[in-house]
Amino acid sequence: MNKKVLRNLSYGVYVISTWDTGRPTGCIANSAMQITSSPATIAVSINRDNYTHDCIKNTGKFAISILSETSDPAIIGTFGFQSGKDVNKFESVKFDIKGYLPVVTDSTGYIVCDVIDTMETATHTVFLGQMYEGDTFEAAAPMTYAYYHEVIKGKSPKNAPTYIAEEETVSADKETWVCSVCKYVYDGDVPFSELPDSYVCPICKQGKHRFNKQ
Ligand SMILES: Cc1cc2nc3c(=O)[nH]c(=O)nc-3n(C[C@H](O)[C@H](O)[C@H](O)COP(=O)(O)O)c2cc1C
Repeated sequence: MNKKVLRNLSYGVYVISTWDTGRPTGCIANSAMQITSSPATIAVSINRDNYTHDCIKNTGKFAISILSETSDPAIIGTFGFQSGKDVNKFESVKFDIKGYLPVVTDSTGYIVCDVIDTMETATHTVFLGQMYEGDTFEAAAPMTYAYYHEVIKGKSPKNAPTYIAEEETVSADKETWVCSVCKYVYDGDVPFSELPDSYVCPICKQGKHRFNKQ
């Protein structure tokens, strides 16, 4: 079986949000897709270890904010590489309440759903949601998973269903600096050692001291 074929599947990049007893929270997911047209139903696969998982179970609702190519990549750092157990993610990211749920305004639009069914896999719960509200915010191109990897040079953590260990490999013939928080690989023209002390990771906004030479 050649698992590399799985890389040929296409996805978007989304913030899946909900409430944590009165506090907004959520995580990044690429695994969202429309299942039926009428009624509009959406499936999203969330790792049971993610804090967002239990919050969706408790509220029975989730929203999907569709990130665009112009969305601040730091949103992915905040929602995809930290846990709502430890941080209040929406403290640093602008949001609106739509259909009773928090949605990220720096996105191309949102979909709000009631959970109508779930399916358990070895590691993830697939939440099936019926859309009851949604709208577009801006006309920017939705961010694809390929754009996130190829243009933003972002990585996926282990809880992403599409995670592949090979993503952690780096070229041996070039000095490579990798962010220890989000695994972003610095590939600018200026040598890493010559970057100003004020340099921060474009994905998770951590300082230079968080980068390790590989
Ligand atoms: C590009 C990307 C895609 C991801 N896709 C998923 C996904 O589809 N499902 C999932 O459970 N986690 C996914 N993750 C991982 C979660 O966003 C991450 O584990 C997050 O820190 C969980 O936060 P929480 O504990 O507050 O829920 C993804 C992360 C990134 C960066």
